[in-house]
Amino acid sequence: MSQVKVLSGFAKDTLKGLTSPRKFLQPKYFYDTEGSKIFQQIMHMPEYYLTNCEMEIFRTQSMSMAQWLHLSDKVFDLIELGPGDGIKSKILLKELHATQKSFTYLPVDISAYSLEQLSRELTKEIPGLQVKQRAGDYFSVMEDMAAQNGTSRVILFLGSNIGNFLPHERAAFMQKVSAMTSSGDGLLMGFDLKKSPAIIQKAYDDPHGYTRAFNLNHLQRINRELDADFDLRNFEHHASYHPETGEMKSFLVSNKAHSVSLNFAKTHIHFDKWEPVFMELSQKFDFKSIEELARNFGFSVKKNFLDTQGYFTDSLWIKK
Ligand code: AVJ
Repeated sequence: MSQVKVLSGFAKDTLKGLTSPRKFLQPKYFYDTEGSKIFQQIMHMPEYYLTNCEMEIFRTQSMSMAQWLHLSDKVFDLIELGPGDGIKSKILLKELHATQKSFTYLPVDISAYSLEQLSRELTKEIPGLQVKQRAGDYFSVMEDMAAQNGTSRVILFLGSNIGNFLPHERAAFMQKVSAMTSSGDGLLMGFDLKKSPAIIQKAYDDPHGYTRAFNLNHLQRINRELDADFDLRNFEHHASYHPETGEMKSFLVSNKAHSVSLNFAKTHIHFDKWEPVFMELSQKFDFKSIEELARNFGFSVKKNFLDTQGYFTDSLWIKK
């Protein structure tokens, strides 16, 4: 009798990406426990300026942010998509908690590991804060959060996570954000800005090898969870920035012709010599593209909170 196995989302998406004519993997699967740890190392290295810039913005402007986020309503939900370690949001949460507003903080993250740590820290550091965590993919969680009458919403989407979406995914994401918000609701979104290509390049091709390890861990995760036999020595990490489009793209490139067994799917995947696997897009923006994105999905840009170098913006939008 044949055994019918139900494939997980990770299994299905991996199979889809590796059997496509142009091989790709999806960045949301970087963040298993190991991947989340490597991402912490990336965020702590000086070359990854994004974290430092956004930290500076939160450290120096969270008071002003909290004032701008003062909705006319006394009660609101603060929904954060992908808080990760939540270090930046904690600063804002403390500021908001100090006001007399009553709000519930709802962090949504793909990494259950990060969420657990975050809520443990929050209960310790901000006693009395109401937290309701949700582990899962943003898209599925957002579907359960259709706009409701009554409680106002502020959505946080920091760290330039928006940059990971391909153009059609970005539009689908914005559509979901639009569907879960009502007139007057707020959206605070982090955007990494276009800047010297040399600076961007170093952030994604670092001398410590953390970004390389982060990408290779994706293959290791496939080995661990999907019973595959990737030999990591057969892949080179390659990251390149395109100043015309603002696209930073990362690849793992096969350095020899070889095959990998995907035992969960009882199949082999062939790699040609120098065949790339597209791993991740980290889109860089300018003010024009930010304005346009807001306008296209029913928001208006109220304020851009910038770091002193002008590398990064946390852009505050209000739903029209
Ligand atoms: C978490 C999506 C913002 O694209 O800069 C960092 C992930 N990848 N280094 C980014 C990442 C390689 C990061 N985001």
